[in-house]
Amino acid sequence: MIKKTLNTVTGESHVYLGESFSEIEKYIPLERTIMVVDKEVMKLHGHTFPDVEVITIDAEESKKDLSTVEYVYERMMENEIDRDSFLIGVGGGITCDIAGFAASTYMRGISFALVPTTLLAQVDAAIGGKNGVNFKGYKNMIGNIEQPDLVLIDHSFLQTLPDEEIRTGMAEIIKAAVIGSSALFHQLELNKDEIMSLEPGYVDRVVRDAVDVKMRIVARDEFESGERRKLNFGHTFGHAVEKNYPITHGKAVALGMRISVDMSVERGSLHAEDGRRVKRLIDSYGFSEDVDLSTVFEAIKKDKKRSDDVVKFVLLNAIGSAEIVDIPLSEIEKVCLDDH
Ligand SMILES: NC(=O)c1ccc[n+]([C@@H]2O[C@H](COP(=O)([O-])OP(=O)(O)OC[C@H]3O[C@@H](n4cnc5c(N)ncnc54)[C@H](O)[C@@H]3O)[C@@H](O)[C@H]2O)c1
Ligand SMILES: [Zn+2]
Repeated sequence: MIKKTLNTVTGESHVYLGESFSEIEKYIPLERTIMVVDKEVMKLHGHTFPDVEVITIDAEESKKDLSTVEYVYERMMENEIDRDSFLIGVGGGITCDIAGFAASTYMRGISFALVPTTLLAQVDAAIGGKNGVNFKGYKNMIGNIEQPDLVLIDHSFLQTLPDEEIRTGMAEIIKAAVIGSSALFHQLELNKDEIMSLEPGYVDRVVRDAVDVKMRIVARDEFESGERRKLNFGHTFGHAVEKNYPITHGKAVALGMRISVDMSVERGSLHAEDGRRVKRLIDSYGFSEDVDLSTVFEAIKKDKKRSDDVVKFVLLNAIGSAEIVDIPLSEIEKVCLDDH
């Protein structure tokens, strides 16, 4: 087990990697605790959980909204949860977002822990204190930044995760590597098979390194005034693709990363050979999805906040190093219309 501490303006967050959820009582007094658990996770793993009150929720993007948060508040009130109580969220990114938002707003905020059960949530959603829900069709419109007191990463949850969800998590791990850790990138190149088959000793190492990248960035820029935007690498395009095509978040981000790599090479900030290496890695993890990039460009244009005609884009200047650049829409259009 490895313990890491994230120190931020809003508080301290302790991250325990490679710890079993059955040990949670070592860290949290369970007599005043309530859990918010993904229904699916409850079904698969509930028999191993501590004996505390459970609120189950559906992990569906369409239900990541205020009505689910309200439902959680109601159940907390029924159970006389008060300011001295503790809430534990157990599930993927959807559950972590809802649990974190409910806990950090109920009675102006109670202590909470997150136990991420998807690969994406272990390396991304549970780390960094962003809690939020969708509103009127807009993703993560309502939310706050409040760090969980504790994040417990138990790799055994991943054993029941569908392959497609593993792949989606891998897209975020590749992202972490290319923006922040050439060592992690190297591991991903060398040990693909072991990592994809979740071999102990391999998957825990890449999770640890990806968590490190995110913690380092969040520690420096908790409120996303600058550097935290690097975590959006591949996501500007990715979100536009997701809106227009029925593909997974992982595939959309992988595609977005490929385009951002091309743009980085074209602008001369990334060496062409490094660009090819990043794209080779993305391919090797099984991401290749052909979409019509001119439609994607239209979506980006629509998405743009009106004020000017530039988009804040994350580009690479080396493997493991990124920068945030204002790019004119016209240049993005050119890349979208080029043949890739
Ligand atoms: N707060 C943040 O910083 C942040 C960062 C990234 C993403 N997010 C949010 O995270 C969400 C996506 O997260 P996600 O990909 O984890 O999705 P998710 O929570 O929907 O989980 C994906 C699927 O896996 C199932 N599942 C979860 N754990 C499982 C397990 N151990 N075994 C079997 N099935 C399991 C869920 O029921 C669900 O069907 C999005 O809403 C996104 O906005 C938040
Ligand atoms: Zn993402």
